[in-house]
Amino acid sequence: MWKIGGISVDGRVVLGPMSGFTSESYRDFMKPFGVAVSVTEMTSDMGVIHGIRRTVPYIAFGDNHPTGVQLFGNDPDNLAEAASRALEINPGIDFFDINMGCPVAKVVRNGSGSALMKDPAKCGEIVRRVKAAAGVPVTAKIRLGWSASSMNFRQVIDELTAAGADAIALHVRTREERYAGTPHYDLAEGLRSEMSVPLIISGNIYSADDAAAAVRITGADAVMVARGGVGNPFLVTQIDRLFRTGEVLPNPTVSQQVDWCLRFADMLIAEKGEDAAFRKLRSYAPRFIAGCYRCRGYRNRLSEEIVDRGSLVSIMEEIRGRMGSERICADGRAERPEPYVPEE
Ligand SMILES: Cc1cc2nc3c(=O)[nH]c(=O)nc-3n(C[C@H](O)[C@H](O)[C@H](O)COP(=O)(O)O)c2cc1C
Repeated sequence: MWKIGGISVDGRVVLGPMSGFTSESYRDFMKPFGVAVSVTEMTSDMGVIHGIRRTVPYIAFGDNHPTGVQLFGNDPDNLAEAASRALEINPGIDFFDINMGCPVAKVVRNGSGSALMKDPAKCGEIVRRVKAAAGVPVTAKIRLGWSASSMNFRQVIDELTAAGADAIALHVRTREERYAGTPHYDLAEGLRSEMSVPLIISGNIYSADDAAAAVRITGADAVMVARGGVGNPFLVTQIDRLFRTGEVLPNPTVSQQVDWCLRFADMLIAEKGEDAAFRKLRSYAPRFIAGCYRCRGYRNRLSEEIVDRGSLVSIMEEIRGRMGSERICADGRAERPEPYVPEE
């Protein structure tokens, strides 16, 4: 058990926020696999303040607790106001997470996301103001720093902690590195022992071994599953089980992956309607068979041909018929498509 402020957390897997992916149905789909804490995809403070209708779905959710709403912005007052407004719209929000790590050009251009790390005092001020306005716990998600020559995460952590942050998530890459390359766990060795609040660690968590290594090196309270969980929900179960009992669970079979893909498709359709859901499913569905040998042709078909539930079911059942009893391969990494990287 660890805590985010007054919230007791049972489990060591945090479902990472991913813009364009971690909508309500995705979070609800992933939860029963062993997710301890969920975070929404990032939502603009100004969108919430102005009550822009399309931002409401970002902060609304049902009984999936605890869930944090992630806000992005560059101004402590606006972020504090956005937090109050968000709680009026959804009083069930368990905590707020402030995005201090997004590398995307149109976000950092406004001084939001990882650009905030250039001003550690402001990072602290944001947490102080949002906490005072919201009255619920506040966390922050940061990176190592802006670039190799400005890795100021320790200084930012000190400011955030002094301001009352209830936990800190660290993606062990710099802004300059975006999402590529090997994450620098070595630079965060023993970090948790230097901190007085929980640490959630993020970066290339693709297997239970990756999760165990990340915790062993950093001492983190939890790992964040992000790209590794897309199309591989059982990764969450494997990590959860390893931490709880030491048990190493085998990878799922292709047939299980087919079941889970279809279950997720139905949840996404219920959330977004069939047209919007299938635009997204063309990038999700191939990932469910990404760690499966001889599937390249099927992956291409899934990303190009599915237009409705019927076409998805027909390709998936063909895959099940040919290789349903096989297990998806080891850590999936070698066969998985390039991780999705947001466009600038
Ligand atoms: C497509 C995509 C969207 C993301 N969106 C967000 C976001 O909205 N907020 C955030 O804090 N991090 C975001 N991230 C970062 C992830 O939460 C995570 O920290 C990062 O991908 C590193 O973990 P991984 O290497 O295991 O994927 C995003 C990552 C990806 C790939």
